[in-house]
Amino acid sequence: MFDTVKAIAGFTRHASVSADPEAREGMEGAVKYLSALLRDNTGCEVEVVQTAGHPVVLGRRRGKPEWPHIVIYGHYDVQPPDPLDEWTSEPFEPVVRDGVMYGRGTSDDKGPMMVHIAALANVLERRPDLPLRITFMIEGEEEIGSPSLAAVMKARTDSLRGDFLLMSDTTSVGIDDESITTGLRGMSALEVRLKGPGQDLHSGFHGGSVMNPIRALAALCASLHDADGRVNIPGFYDDVVPPADWEREELARLNRDPEDYRKLLGVPELCPPPDYDVFESRCFGPTLEFNGITGGYQGPGSKTIIPARASVKISCRLVPDQKADRILELVEKTLRERCPRGVTMEIERQHGGDPYVVLPPHKSGEAIGTPKAVAFKAADEAIREVFGSAPHYLREGGSVPVLSDIRRILGMDALMLAVALPDCNMHSPNENMDLLMIERCTKVSERILEAVAGTRG
Ligand code: BES
Ligand code: MN
Ligand code: MN
Repeated sequence: MFDTVKAIAGFTRHASVSADPEAREGMEGAVKYLSALLRDNTGCEVEVVQTAGHPVVLGRRRGKPEWPHIVIYGHYDVQPPDPLDEWTSEPFEPVVRDGVMYGRGTSDDKGPMMVHIAALANVLERRPDLPLRITFMIEGEEEIGSPSLAAVMKARTDSLRGDFLLMSDTTSVGIDDESITTGLRGMSALEVRLKGPGQDLHSGFHGGSVMNPIRALAALCASLHDADGRVNIPGFYDDVVPPADWEREELARLNRDPEDYRKLLGVPELCPPPDYDVFESRCFGPTLEFNGITGGYQGPGSKTIIPARASVKISCRLVPDQKADRILELVEKTLRERCPRGVTMEIERQHGGDPYVVLPPHKSGEAIGTPKAVAFKAADEAIREVFGSAPHYLREGGSVPVLSDIRRILGMDALMLAVALPDCNMHSPNENMDLLMIERCTKVSERILEAVAGTRG
């Protein structure tokens, strides 16, 4: 049997931080590790596709053209581990405590992706002649906006187009409550830089004569929400479509206590915008958030200056039918119109992706019997057995912006089997993965692979 825990631990030891140019060794190590793992345990033919950025690892199990073809997506890159002093154990030296593995990437996305590698290895051990084609498509740039994957897909549409995409890169509800994720928010990100004087000035000498870039930036940022917390950008909500009734009901059925959620987050009060409750707003509502702000003196003590510059990083989470490009345009136009006097403005557009929704065939009335429909049905049944309760069909607040590219370029929808738990600390210190979820979800994935293999003509 494939040793999944050992495989995740070994993978986690490679510090594959895509955002960090110094992390080359970790990136290369992760690519080699993953390639060997696929080759040795699933018999896949592995190709490491070089790109302008980090390589894409393709693993193929070929077969007869009439066999169904599943493409499995994952990402081997991880977020930077800092702040390091808030970790209980080293981020790249995984340890297991009480059935939970701790380490950067254990839940995003090295652990969850391993579920499908393990499932294929296990199924092939029982049935080496399984009539199923599989392509693993594992990228190393998801955490930086997937700048290279679209080009790889465009250059190889024929071989990468499968019946559907199988992936695990989202969060479930709880250890006994599995969910199939039915949507993710899109994203539009940008950075705004304001320039005032040519260099920092003595604030006594010159204070009163010039605009302070921090003051200008603060006013600009403050203008982007109204007093109730709505985004104050003309046109921002124009294309927002409310969720279907069944989606609202499915979410309400969880019956979660806002107070528990408040405690989990450690905030004095939850602040959803009007029109949504706190749980709806993170699934169905769009946002504009400030992710980082800089300007002026940050050292110890005080320094009386008027800084030369100030800047802010902004990202919007988008919901259907907002479009990432259009929202970027609206935000940029509004920022330029509201630019305070006395400073100049520079805007850098960053990554983005459209919101993504995939309805399970039993909700969309789509044809039954296709590999995709069979996979959803098998997942539903397997979850009932393995978890002891029906899956929840929920949208999530995070983003995997490349999913909309995958749909556009390869024409495939995703079956998103959630593996991580809400307290997995993705992107935070003490990221972790509950190994019982890995075990259970591996069984579910095995059932999906076997059911789809059974659909061959
Ligand atoms: N796995 C996450 C996305 C996610 C997290 C979906 C939780 C659902 C629940 C993914 O790796 C991620 O972090 N995406 C980024 C995208 C960005 C870097 C372009 C995100 O959502 O911030
Ligand atoms: Mn992820
Ligand atoms: Mn992530």
